[in-house]
Amino acid sequence: MQSEVLQQLGAEGGGDFLDCTLGGGGHTRAILEANSENQVTAADRDESALARANELVSQYQGRLEVLKSCFSDLSSKLEGRKFQGVLADLGVSSDQLQGQRGFSFNDVGPLDMRMDEHASKTAYEVVNNTGSQELYVILKNGGVGKEARRLVQAIVAARPIQTTAKLAEVIRSVACGSKSKLDPATLAFQAIRMAVNDELPELQALLQLAPEIVRHQGRLVIITFHSLEDRAVTARMREWQGGANMPALWPGALPTSSLGKFLTNKALRPSEREVDENPRARSARLRAFEFA
Ligand SMILES: C[S@@+](CC[C@H](N)C(=O)[O-])C[C@H]1O[C@@H](n2cnc3c(N)ncnc32)[C@H](O)[C@@H]1O
Repeated sequence: MQSEVLQQLGAEGGGDFLDCTLGGGGHTRAILEANSENQVTAADRDESALARANELVSQYQGRLEVLKSCFSDLSSKLEGRKFQGVLADLGVSSDQLQGQRGFSFNDVGPLDMRMDEHASKTAYEVVNNTGSQELYVILKNGGVGKEARRLVQAIVAARPIQTTAKLAEVIRSVACGSKSKLDPATLAFQAIRMAVNDELPELQALLQLAPEIVRHQGRLVIITFHSLEDRAVTARMREWQGGANMPALWPGALPTSSLGKFLTNKALRPSEREVDENPRARSARLRAFEFA
């Protein structure tokens, strides 16, 4: 959704931007290319993404700075800096999926799934050491349907599960009757990955911080891949606009007056062509907000 990102950020107009999710650097590069005056600070909690960006840093000398940070640490790392545009493209990168780090159900290695390889919680911990009820909530919230309860039972019976291949086998044994075109392991792996990386609390931290790091008339653009994330972003942007008619999904003080304008009441979605080229984009939803 590169052209939508650039347009919603107003990147062609020039300015300084924060890409909170550097990943493979595709959006960072596009922002730098959109205007030769653009400056980008690009953050990620994955050190391998930062290492791969060294080439970009030298190519765009003086215009790109990279920063190791998760969303919940950004406040202390940015020390009061504000930006014209802030982007977060949530979820997992292609490099992570292809890196034999346990993100893909086609991997054969250990159950890991950590975006930050120094984090203490791994998929092994979540799969093998989480109580049945908590595991059920993780899977159910993650989008696993009516099989969630049976899947918990199967996981508990198969413990300790050491590898991604074994986990995928257990999931497929439960969901073997599924008519969905998705591999039955897709949603369960996503749910476990989101728990390993605290992805919803991290998003909550970013939404809490956003009004402090986006400049007057600057924009926040967020791409989500999960309905819970999209609901959280939409609810918060509606609250900021001052038109909240639904209870807040997340804790935190509501603004007393409007903070700006919600630009995408209807989420922007990838084109059919983009989904054909990159099937992982099928669930992407882009939302944008302009601060007053
Ligand atoms: C979908 S990829 C971003 C792809 C990138 N926009 C590109 O064009 O290549 C998401 C990236 O965000 C990072 N990420 C996800 N949640 C994060 C968080 N809470 N804090 C910091 N980085 C995060 C992941 O490590 C991953 O590299």
